[in-house]
Amino acid sequence: MLKIGVMASGGGSNFKAIIDHIGEGDLEAQCKFLITNNGTCGAVEHAKEYGIPVYHISGKTHPVAAEYEAALMDVLNRYDVDLLILAGYMKALPVCIVRRMENRILNIHPSLLPKYGGKGFWGIHVHEAVVAAHEKESGATVHLVSEEIDQGRILAQAKVPVMEDDTPEVLAARVLEQEHNLYWKTIRDYAAQL
Ligand code: GRF
Repeated sequence: MLKIGVMASGGGSNFKAIIDHIGEGDLEAQCKFLITNNGTCGAVEHAKEYGIPVYHISGKTHPVAAEYEAALMDVLNRYDVDLLILAGYMKALPVCIVRRMENRILNIHPSLLPKYGGKGFWGIHVHEAVVAAHEKESGATVHLVSEEIDQGRILAQAKVPVMEDDTPEVLAARVLEQEHNLYWKTIRDYAAQL
């Protein structure tokens, strides 16, 4: 059985969608833990609801970088997951973690990478830039995590149209809906090749 761990910082709708698809039998996997850097985020509520262990590891809980990295490494070593799934984790992973899990960390990004990725392109800022550039389409990308932000190998994308009267918020909601369907399928397909 595929073992995954999830890292999230926000509302956790992607995390919930993945857990729901596991529950429905679409994705044969076990979610072993949620790591968050925000102890009060929506993802934590979802984890509690589903009885998934939560580890709050952040600059606040572990102000010394080496201790922060060791705490993350401890969780990875304890559960030995096959894949680490970043689902709205708003912090760059330490290089030691990326190397420990090479080709086994997936991220979802709310644009059609390589467009609108990298420094500064996170959250609503991605959609603001897409709307400002009058793009005709946008979407979501699932990619492997490498040492350079948003530059790892692209595994899958889903496209959505951008309407002329879209606000960044309206576009964000349209993209997020696609993310929920794209992520679990990409995890399933990628895991099948491992
Ligand atoms: C998503 O838009 C995802 O692409 C980005 O962060 C957002 C997370 O949303 N990386 P949620 O917390 O899963 O609702």
